Amino acid sequence: MALSMMAAWGCTSEQSPVYKDASADIEDRVEDLVDRMTLEEKILQLNQYTLGVNTVENNLGEVVKDIPAEIGSLIYFSDVPTGRNAMQRKAMEESRLGIPILFGHDVIHGYRTTFPIPLAQACSWNLELARKASEVAAQEASDCGIHWTFSPMVDVARDPRWGRVMEGYGEDVYTNAMFSAAAVKGYQGEDMSEKNRIAACLKHYVGYAASEAGRDYVPTEISDQTLWDTYLPPFEAGVKAGAATLMSAFHTISGIPASANHYILTEVLKEKWQHDGFVVSDWGAVEQLVYQGMAEDKKEATLLAFNAGIEMDMADRMYIKYLPELIDEGKVSIKQVDEAVRRILRVKFRLGLFENPYVEEKSEEEMYLLPKSLELTEQQASESMVLLKNEGNVLPLENARTIALVGPGATDAAEHLGNWGARARVEDAVSVFQGMSKEFAGKANLLTAKGCEFDGEDKSGFAEAVRVAKASDVVVVCLGHRGCWSGENQSRSTIEIPAIQEELLATVEATGKPVVVLLTGGRPLDLRRVEPKADAILMLWHSGIRAGYAAAGILSGRYNPSGKLAMTFPYSTGQIPIYYNRRNPARTGDQGLYRDITSEPMYPFGHGLSYSDFEYGKLTLSAEKISANETLYAEVEVKNNSQREGMETVHWYVCDPYSHITRPVKELKFFEKKLIKAGESTVYRFEIDPLRDLGFVNKKGERYLDKGEYQIMVGDQMVSVLVE
Ligand code: BGC
Repeated sequence: MALSMMAAWGCTSEQSPVYKDASADIEDRVEDLVDRMTLEEKILQLNQYTLGVNTVENNLGEVVKDIPAEIGSLIYFSDVPTGRNAMQRKAMEESRLGIPILFGHDVIHGYRTTFPIPLAQACSWNLELARKASEVAAQEASDCGIHWTFSPMVDVARDPRWGRVMEGYGEDVYTNAMFSAAAVKGYQGEDMSEKNRIAACLKHYVGYAASEAGRDYVPTEISDQTLWDTYLPPFEAGVKAGAATLMSAFHTISGIPASANHYILTEVLKEKWQHDGFVVSDWGAVEQLVYQGMAEDKKEATLLAFNAGIEMDMADRMYIKYLPELIDEGKVSIKQVDEAVRRILRVKFRLGLFENPYVEEKSEEEMYLLPKSLELTEQQASESMVLLKNEGNVLPLENARTIALVGPGATDAAEHLGNWGARARVEDAVSVFQGMSKEFAGKANLLTAKGCEFDGEDKSGFAEAVRVAKASDVVVVCLGHRGCWSGENQSRSTIEIPAIQEELLATVEATGKPVVVLLTGGRPLDLRRVEPKADAILMLWHSGIRAGYAAAGILSGRYNPSGKLAMTFPYSTGQIPIYYNRRNPARTGDQGLYRDITSEPMYPFGHGLSYSDFEYGKLTLSAEKISANETLYAEVEVKNNSQREGMETVHWYVCDPYSHITRPVKELKFFEKKLIKAGESTVYRFEIDPLRDLGFVNKKGERYLDKGEYQIMVGDQMVSVLVE
């Protein structure tokens, strides 16, 4: 450890302690501060308290009284910089050592400028846009005095009944890993102490999405092989990208709760990956060890969580209550406490909080909804939406003179915000109606009728919907799920859309007019009764405050859709879990298939149409045989045969067809999105590092490469290479 000049000279007087010296090495500052702290001060650093959302500054005084000035962190505290500054002043001025409080908040897909939900962002396959969206979120949040977001969620999720699939990047390991790193970079930048950067938190460590039957908080069964193959890689990628913190998950992994799991929290994260930031427990996860049947009482829960490797206790106040006793009893050592405190202080120093504990008190106009941010969220929304069907090229609507816009989502702006909107406001959001009114002004007449609500049985609006449909050239029907039907604690037994909406669609379709369905949703939907009744289907997801403009732009042809699914759309709920990179079954042909429905999904992973017509040339490899340390290149030329420029994402897959641990039928290893002008071609290239891209990890997390045949796949082509 490089000692700073001050520390080397032993200059630790109270006037200029090393920890207050911005030029000193962070590790020296951490050590110096830990040395000065009492046990009580140390334990307070290990806690995150909540005060509930307090937007009323005048009430601040009363609330502040409850909070010890030495507290490590606060969640959901205030919506205004003045509120945060007042609280921070208490910490800086009323505590003995003046350790700044770390203000955490769930900034999941934007702060005030709401971006598409993460699942939608993944469908854009545009990592740069995802990085920039996180950068805007960090700017707005930090301008409001927030230092730390509980994002990104990088739980590989394969059960769309689970409400939280909206918060992550879909079913694929590599996709989650790439977006994990992009989000971390967007929030933290290269240096977290720079203005407008916040600390990221990878969650929920690890395997939370494997919840049985799509229920929330329930146990999971995850083998060590699957843990390493599927659930850990996105976290490892985030850690490598520099994520300052991680959040331990609620669920039990094969009998051991994630929040008492020494193997994942300490052996993997701290020892193998050398993560030197800290882990915060999820909301009440320490206390819940009792309900999960692991700890006999809350004191034991504290012991288990702390010893497993959770440094900060979120919300349930277990550490503050029980750590002193556990230390007295010798069950937790001071050495362990010091190490936990070090990790938390390290993050605070890296954020530059000791130098800049307060936030500049700017006006809302200066902080939020900046023109560039609005442009970015619209662009990301336009690239996240997925054109699932476009029979007879009904889209774009270039010749329609009168367009009927019906359905519960037609004039609704709120549902585009989705769940987990940090400071999202409905008045910032643009509905499809508003978007289309602007987009088609002077080109087409719009007739609107709601038809029905998102749910319920009231069909009294159907007649009006039929009337406007009959009077139009085409009907745009806005259906789907509401934002609050996804997110935490929002499991659903079926991923269908409510029957009333299906009925509205059928009624409108019976008019014989071309039908375009626009769908909101935070999860893949069961569209088996919707698909036959629609000429075109555009999945909007919950794409943020400019979703209405983006959707209208796709309808008019101003935007050429380029989204592709990051999560399979099952044919029906009964197929779940269904995902692309399954292993081969024991029998082939029609053996083992469903006898009552198709065994194919409605829309597979990677599906998504464009207004351009892309043609893939021949897949070529730079060699037929390679040695383990040789780089292999795969190339494919893609031609845009249409009159329209468009963006095409090429997905590269690999397969190890025979292996001593069987491998999935295909695994995504690289993707690239490029703009191809009308009539032009471009070459996509996948640079294959055999160990990284063809090899795999065993159940101890050791990566190795078997000799033998491997398959490289793109589009519907596959070629083999021999690794000697
Ligand atoms: C959720 C986390 C979230 C935390 C704080 C928990 O209930 O599982 O994802 O970050 O609350 O709001």
